[in-house]
Amino acid sequence: MEPLKGLILSGGRGTRLRPITHTSAKQLVPVANKPVLFYGIEAMAAAGIEQVGVVIAPETGAEIEAAAGDGSRFGVNITYVLQDEPLGLAHAVLTAEAFLGSSPFVMYLGDNLLQGGISDLVATFREHEPDALILLTPVPDPEHYGVAELADSGQGQAGRVVRLLEKPSAPVTDLALVGVYMFTAQIHAAARAISPSGRGELEITDAIQHLVDEGRRIEPHIVRGWWKDTGRLSDLLEANRLILDNLIGRIEGELIDSRADGRVVIEAGARLERTTVRGPAIVGAGAQLSDCYIGPYTAIGEQCTISGAEVEHSILLAGCSVRDLDGRMESSLLGRDVSVRRGDRQPRAYRFMVGDNSDISIL
Ligand code: DAU
Repeated sequence: MEPLKGLILSGGRGTRLRPITHTSAKQLVPVANKPVLFYGIEAMAAAGIEQVGVVIAPETGAEIEAAAGDGSRFGVNITYVLQDEPLGLAHAVLTAEAFLGSSPFVMYLGDNLLQGGISDLVATFREHEPDALILLTPVPDPEHYGVAELADSGQGQAGRVVRLLEKPSAPVTDLALVGVYMFTAQIHAAARAISPSGRGELEITDAIQHLVDEGRRIEPHIVRGWWKDTGRLSDLLEANRLILDNLIGRIEGELIDSRADGRVVIEAGARLERTTVRGPAIVGAGAQLSDCYIGPYTAIGEQCTISGAEVEHSILLAGCSVRDLDGRMESSLLGRDVSVRRGDRQPRAYRFMVGDNSDISIL
């Protein structure tokens, strides 16, 4: 088999993470202080893939290029592929056809996170040489995903793929298509053969179904570890929790009358005064924390300033400022340079300057 290439899809619109995605690509939202996209690139590098194509959109492409660069720091070579409009995952594959050529490839959705990487899957793909390999996992809400129907193999293993449907309103199984796929060059003809779906996209799910209809061998693989599509806030916080669960503690910043309990990372240049951090949690470089409690499953971005506040199970992007909160901030996502503080005016009032699509709960 020719060497495998990688294709990471980092275009699209990111409507479900607005307002964060009004100004920034959803694939760059950090999980445990690292952009989601980087986990995919690292998984490819670890699987020995050297040539990685990254599909980008006109609105967010420059930001993604600036973040991931030429790939050298991941040990891969990145080629950027501009997709003018988000016309679907199969459209993205066709857009990348010149880059992919006749190579087999791993396609990885840039907002997905897969525990355990892809090295074993790549090995299986090489060994079994199916026409495509798809990953599946049971989910409680299959109507939000591509859904697979398998024939029972009778051997306790995943059977043959019978049918794939994109976001069916009445799913017949709970097996969702995970956003990591392995293809041979046959996928290009299949992507050309299908028509846009009800949502106006060329669906990769339909292209794979086309391969099934042609009698090709599609190998299903049930994911054993966890998998997250970080496109929604609850899933993003959950991904942050799962990644932080494996954090290895490291203190490089300065702790003054402060404590870090459990697995905590304090990056260089961060300064904590009269603050308790209970892990797993990470505090980014240059952050300044005083009189705070930072609870488990929290990722504080670089250069954040927090004083007189409690924060738990949250993601704060770089440059946020949080001051003098009465209650604990929890299960929250703050975009870059957001400021949250309690004012000192009487009578008590709330004063906001908040962008479109923001979501604020006052409990
Ligand atoms: O997360 C798994 C699901 O991903 C699968 O179960 C579905 O079968 C599959 O269609 C896909 O569904 P989503 O609706 O979640 O896909 P989304 O629009 O979020 O796009 C996934 C990634 O691909 C995201 O990083 C944006 C990028 N993308 C998307 C489109 C539509 C592109 O690069 N170009 C595009 O045209």
